[in-house]
Amino acid sequence: MLSLRDISVGYGDTLVLRDVSLALQPGQVLGVIGRNGTGKSTLARLIGGELRPATGQITLEGRDIAAMPPWVRARAGIAVMPQTDMVFDALTVAENLALMGRVDLGEAGERFPRITERLTQLAGSMSGGERKILGFVRAMLAPARLVVLDEPSEGVQAENIAHMQALVAAARVRGVAVVLMEQNIAMVEALADVVIGLDSGGIIYHATGDQIDRADMLEAISL
Ligand SMILES: Nc1ncnc2c1ncn2[C@@H]1O[C@H](COP(=O)(O)OP(=O)(O)O)[C@@H](O)[C@H]1O
Ligand SMILES: [Mg+2]
Repeated sequence: MLSLRDISVGYGDTLVLRDVSLALQPGQVLGVIGRNGTGKSTLARLIGGELRPATGQITLEGRDIAAMPPWVRARAGIAVMPQTDMVFDALTVAENLALMGRVDLGEAGERFPRITERLTQLAGSMSGGERKILGFVRAMLAPARLVVLDEPSEGVQAENIAHMQALVAAARVRGVAVVLMEQNIAMVEALADVVIGLDSGGIIYHATGDQIDRADMLEAISL
C-alpha cells in the first residue's frame, strides 16, 4: 500500500536519506530503528508530506503522492504522530480528540483511563508521557489506512507501552499498516513484520518475520 523507490530526502542541499526503497502491505508493521540523528523523523516527515523527496518515488496504493500536501495525505488515509508537537498544547484533551472526528474512544479509552479523566485539561499542561499517550491515541483514532508513529514510547511507562502495543496489534488486525519509528527494541521486536535500521544516510539493516533478531537490531542501532 505504501511504496518508496530510491528516495533521497533531506533539508535544503543536505540529504539525510539516500536511495531508500521499501514496500509495506496492509496490516503490516514496519519498524524503523536507528540512533538519534539517523533520519527516522525525516522519514516520518517524508511519509506525512512535510518533506518532499529530492529524488525517487513515493506511492500510496499505486498513486504518486510526492507532491501531495500533508492535509491531503491525511484525507487520503495517512495519520502521523510526530515525535514532538504531537498534540495541540493550547487545546483541551477533548478538543484534541474531537479534531480526529471521534467522540467514542473505544478500546483506547479503556486502556488509557487517564485520557478520559482529563478531557477538560489543556494538553499543554500534561506531562511529557501523557502528551505522548494523547498524541498516540489521536493517531490511532484517525480514519487511516496507514499510521506513522514517531517514537511513541519515548518517556512512557512500561505499562502504557504495553497498552500502545495492544492497540497497534488491534489496528494491524483491521488491516491498518503502521510505520513505527522506535529506539525501544523490545517494542519493535513485539510488533514488527519488517524492520529497517537507518544509519549514515541509508538502510543498514533489513529483516522480515523470523529473521528479526534482537541482537542484530541492537548492533544496528549502536554502530
Ligand atoms: N529541520 C531540519 N533542518 C535541517 N536539518 C535537520 C532538520 N531536522 C533534522 N535535521 C537533521 O537531519 C538528520 C536526521 O534527523 P532526524 O530525522 O530527526 O533523525 P532521528 O529522528 O533518527 O533522530 C540529523 O542530522 C538532523 O540534524
Ligand atoms: Mg526522531
